[in-house]
Amino acid sequence: MTEQTSLAGKKIVLGVSGSIAAYKAADLVRLCTKAGAEVKVVMTQAASEFITPLTMQTLSGNPVAMTLLDADEEAAMGHIKLARWADWVLIAPATANTIAGLAQGRTEDLLSALCLATTVPIALAPAMNNKMWTNKATQANLAVIAERGMHLLGPASGDQACGEQGEGRLLEPEQILAELSQLVLPPKLAKKRLVITAGPTHEPIDPVRFIGNRSSGKMGFAMATAAAETGAEVILVTGPVHLATPPGVTRIDVETASQMHEAVEKIESIDIFIGCAAVADYRPQQYHDKKIKKTAEKQREISLIENPDILAGVSQRKQKPFIVGFAAETDNITDYAKEKMVRKQLDMIAANQVGKGLGFAVDTNALQVFWHQGDAVLPQALKSHLARELMRLIIERYDAKNSA
Ligand code: C5P
Repeated sequence: MTEQTSLAGKKIVLGVSGSIAAYKAADLVRLCTKAGAEVKVVMTQAASEFITPLTMQTLSGNPVAMTLLDADEEAAMGHIKLARWADWVLIAPATANTIAGLAQGRTEDLLSALCLATTVPIALAPAMNNKMWTNKATQANLAVIAERGMHLLGPASGDQACGEQGEGRLLEPEQILAELSQLVLPPKLAKKRLVITAGPTHEPIDPVRFIGNRSSGKMGFAMATAAAETGAEVILVTGPVHLATPPGVTRIDVETASQMHEAVEKIESIDIFIGCAAVADYRPQQYHDKKIKKTAEKQREISLIENPDILAGVSQRKQKPFIVGFAAETDNITDYAKEKMVRKQLDMIAANQVGKGLGFAVDTNALQVFWHQGDAVLPQALKSHLARELMRLIIERYDAKNSA
């Protein structure tokens, strides 16, 4: 696989803001389209002082958008249309002002409005004077946007247009393309069916009470987002969560482990199965259809019976998919995870430590991934980044298994 192939067929909005380095964006358009991407350019007013929209239009083969309230645009909603069209947003060069606008969620021009409106990943390549780059205000803004999952490409160090030397130079277009290609998942799973379970399950005791767990579903939803980027058909079977369905993903809502099991059993021809859900191992044996009343008893017991193991069911299929399990453990992670991979006949297991602010209901996580011939550590990062890295490993191992 060449580095560029991950961009083939991707729709990229290239945002250009007002820096002397804007002229390099022209080369970037050329490189992106050569790598097979379709590019639509959005320029700020200041960018158009450095390089003409006509140049960008000619190179990209698409009209250049510049104004937020364009009367010629249907219902003047260009930012929404572009936000929906894109697979990725790349801002190069990104000025200190553009970065500040992103950190604050401002919508003063088309570029910042579409960044606020989009759900796709955003990468930016900064370009500014070295003092502006190291200024605490800029660094604080960068920390904010990194925490929200935006990817930073560069900057480089060296001679600057202002005559100074230091950090803040725009990366060379070839390097921006190489780094972006690394981030974008290759469209390797087109025509494959990928099923992901996510979230907790709720096991009802009576009409108002249930046994549940702390899973937020964030990791499973991040996996579904990453999976959709690979071109796969993604079916997300989820327990009760408060999360929006990722674009391009088919969602099936369930409440209990039994319902999740039934929903998964009904799905045929699965190529890859990822069990991210924190499925309750047991459920109350008896469901009371009226609310259980408090009594004088000092102690009450709920008898539990075992739930079906969804992963085990999938691994017993005649046409067994490539199966990835998750193991949330409070201790002895490596041993428990490896034992689980063998016992449940999985191809891969992603283990993480839970408890003490780790794992559940937070935006970051760290994973130890095991497969039969090796392992990898994915250090603490946003779940969206981790999911993309894990997806990369899954594609690699899935390819290796199928070519063996
Ligand atoms: O044994 P444990 O519950 O820790 O295993 C975790 C893995 O098994 C996860 O991938 C989870 O989604 C899956 N699982 C399942 N069905 C169950 C219990 C767990 O698919 N009933």
